[in-house]
Amino acid sequence: MIVTTKQLFKVAYGRFAIGAYNINNLEQAYGLFLGNLRSKAPFIIQISKGARKYTDKRFLEAIIRVADGIFPEAIFAVHLDHGDEATCYDCIDSGFYSSVMIDASHESFEKNVEITRGVVERAHARGLSVEAELGMLGGVEEDIVGHVCLTDPDEAKRFVEKSGCDSLAVAIGTSHGAYKFKAEPGKKLGLHFEVIEKIQQLLPGFPMVMHGSSSVPKAEIDRINAAGGSMKDASGVPEEDFLPAAKKGVCKVNIDTDGRLVWTRVHREFFRDHPEKFDLRDPGKVFVEEYAKMLEHKNTILGSAGRLDEVRGRIQVDQ
Ligand code: G3H
Ligand code: 13P
Ligand code: ZN
Repeated sequence: MIVTTKQLFKVAYGRFAIGAYNINNLEQAYGLFLGNLRSKAPFIIQISKGARKYTDKRFLEAIIRVADGIFPEAIFAVHLDHGDEATCYDCIDSGFYSSVMIDASHESFEKNVEITRGVVERAHARGLSVEAELGMLGGVEEDIVGHVCLTDPDEAKRFVEKSGCDSLAVAIGTSHGAYKFKAEPGKKLGLHFEVIEKIQQLLPGFPMVMHGSSSVPKAEIDRINAAGGSMKDASGVPEEDFLPAAKKGVCKVNIDTDGRLVWTRVHREFFRDHPEKFDLRDPGKVFVEEYAKMLEHKNTILGSAGRLDEVRGRIQVDQ
């Protein structure tokens, strides 16, 4: 059942986080439904601009519609990840999405407000909610002054009030991809909880979103490298940081890279161990199972595992 992102946030706020997982193809979508159902977790399917261009956006929408029919007990929202204005409007008008993200974080504060406000007006008129972004997620060391910046809590409050957005992606120390933190003696690697706490104080009850949330497990990187890969110094968000962040108002946790790592590990190991094989379905089957397993684990550490009946009940009461 496709629900609104708002409905999911209402149940999750301050208690657990909803996993938001990107998909690009059938195998990811299949593994996604299996993993979330096995762990009885509500979830958010994310489609990025790149995913919509990889083949044709209609392939992904059709896969999701069919999966909804095959797995009627699943409860999920469909979200545009990192949209620009044109893509947001296209998704809003399509009638298929639950919510969109307008990413104008590279613009000035005022311009970001103006662009986000426009998307919010059109989205709200069609019953969709809008995630915006303030602050800049980037490569390593983004907390260094003059470089990429953490979200300023006072600015976040003004931004939410002026733009009317429904949730906010905040820069709290993470970055996209497989190289998030540079180890330095004495420096704690992980989230800037002081920023999360301040934003929650200023905007109580308002959902925050954490991008760049892959954990980049060392065991996964070691296996990829042992099977011919070359990913030196990869690192991600410590798993023990998720639930404390969720309890402070981080409702949505975006994970894409960790799924790509599973894909890379499975395929590198498969062809290393079976050099004679050439049927794409053989490694495909392994990937679907391994991806599902990864999601079950993620949902456990996010606190969303086992919540499906509770979410279903709350949604029925609200209707
Ligand atoms: O934050 C970005 C997501 O990982 C999606 O990546 O734009 O390469 O599809 P993509
Ligand atoms: P990762 O690269 O850490 O998986 O982050 C994904 C993301 O933020 C998608 O919007
Ligand atoms: Zn992102």
